[in-house]
Amino acid sequence: MASPSDTFVTGANPLRDPADRRLPRIAGPSGLVIFGVTGDLSRKKLMPAVYDLANRGLLPPGFSLVGFARREWQHEDFAQEVHDAVKEHSRTPFREEVWQQLIQGMRFVQGTFDDDAAFEQLRDTIKELDEAQGTGGNFAFYLSVPPKFFPKVVQQLKKHGLADQADGAWRRAVIEKPFGHDLVSAKELNAIVHEVFAPDQVFRIDHYLGKETVQNILALRFANTLFEPIWNRSYVDHVQITMAEDIGIGGRAGYYDGIGAARDVIQNHLLQLLALTAMEEPASFDADALAAEKTKVLGAVRLPEDLGKGTVLAQYAGGWQGGEKVIGYLQEEGIDPHSKTDTYAAVKLRIDNRRWAGVPFYLRTGKRLGRRVTEIAVVFQRAPHSPFDHTATEELGQNALVIRVQPDEGVTLRFGSKVPGTSMEVRDVSMDFAYGESFTESSPEAYERLILDVLLGDANLFPRTEEVELSWKILDPIEQYWEKNGKPPQYSAGTWGPVEADEMLERDGRSWRRP
Ligand SMILES: NC(=O)c1ccc[n+]([C@@H]2O[C@H](COP(=O)([O-])OP(=O)(O)OC[C@H]3O[C@@H](n4cnc5c(N)ncnc54)[C@H](OP(=O)(O)O)[C@@H]3O)[C@@H](O)[C@H]2O)c1
Repeated sequence: MASPSDTFVTGANPLRDPADRRLPRIAGPSGLVIFGVTGDLSRKKLMPAVYDLANRGLLPPGFSLVGFARREWQHEDFAQEVHDAVKEHSRTPFREEVWQQLIQGMRFVQGTFDDDAAFEQLRDTIKELDEAQGTGGNFAFYLSVPPKFFPKVVQQLKKHGLADQADGAWRRAVIEKPFGHDLVSAKELNAIVHEVFAPDQVFRIDHYLGKETVQNILALRFANTLFEPIWNRSYVDHVQITMAEDIGIGGRAGYYDGIGAARDVIQNHLLQLLALTAMEEPASFDADALAAEKTKVLGAVRLPEDLGKGTVLAQYAGGWQGGEKVIGYLQEEGIDPHSKTDTYAAVKLRIDNRRWAGVPFYLRTGKRLGRRVTEIAVVFQRAPHSPFDHTATEELGQNALVIRVQPDEGVTLRFGSKVPGTSMEVRDVSMDFAYGESFTESSPEAYERLILDVLLGDANLFPRTEEVELSWKILDPIEQYWEKNGKPPQYSAGTWGPVEADEMLERDGRSWRRP
């Protein structure tokens, strides 16, 4: 049974001052129900994140984990599944005493999403856990299921009284991406979800916001005096936000086809990165103030007038990647050979406000590109006048601040420096901050942070209804344009995307970075 300490195994600091933000934030009595517990996300990310939180002493002693799935499993089979997932994928070392405590609160409920008896059994299980584990009725429901089932699961939670917050207990819904397929479907889903849950009970996952490097955008901008004075149209030439993957679609044809790169990545991750990079300083770091600034800047985003010239969707063809020959998207197993789904998307956006007028934000994402990398590059204008010879500065690019989101997390500042020697030759050099070198703590996984925040009711890192709808409003015309205008062009696997995307920047006298 649960240990008498007031946190998970490792114990809490009795001198803890709740106002001290340096001390760990520990979840109160609670449990987590995962729907779709046999799925890829649950196995690779969610179950390991729960264990890692327990191992770090951030869960309450009676913390409970309920799996809901179709398999004919007993509680022990589920516990074995979690055990295997944790052993394979958790970030922190396996400790038997943590595990033994965690399994006390593990339960499994078998059923499909339209099975009323299974939801009744879930209700009974929660009641039993409240008594046995002291969860106090506080439960989060994590919908790690195919998006078409989001409405059904939410409605079942309502029908069986599982969303009711009785006697001071809380109930929360955690909804995976994609949140809708376009603006209309996102609004429909929002309407269904909010019929059951109040806005402060809903946590929409954009796992990028759980990354340390993404939260660091705010620290970099607003905890320093160095950057903010030049973070505007007077000094910034343009911004490039890239999320590149070197892998293809792998076994995810069923999920990916019909969705594509723009919906899968630009609508959520890249527009959130844009919002954090471009927004004004919030009045505070509470969820309302942050959401207000992100919403304001997303509302000021404008599409190019000519979508044919200012956006590119494309598909990977076969090619060479990492010394291996790889097949094209249309040859992948499970993909319709006539599919028009994009595996690459690049867009040029404007932000119509005083800070950013005239500064393009170029966003791109793609599969089977040269390298796996996510970064935000703020590229500065050239010096207005150069006293140096043109030939002496030939190798000088533009100053840039690059936030390396993943891998190799850190920040790079690129600037010109004199080459040692007798002439005044200037060349690009860089100054680097790397997380691994500056901090001894390793970064938690995004899902650890996000699950903990859900249990704490801290909504800072979760996009709100308005942000999701504004993002679809930006993306919908692009999708409609490409839907009408035939097949997307192709690019060879292992390259940095289609020539059309290079031409898009060349027309502006710029080029994409090769990270
Ligand atoms: N995988 C990722 O890396 C990733 C990344 C970001 C977001 N997401 C999102 O996370 C969610 C889960 O993704 P996933 O990759 O884990 O999907 P998945 O591997 O296809 O798993 C889906 C889960 O839903 C269950 N399920 C499907 N139909 C069901 C039904 N009719 N009744 C009961 N259970 C049913 C499956 O159970 P069975 O085993 O019984 O089929 C399985 O547990 C999706 O919304 C996805 O878009 C995933």
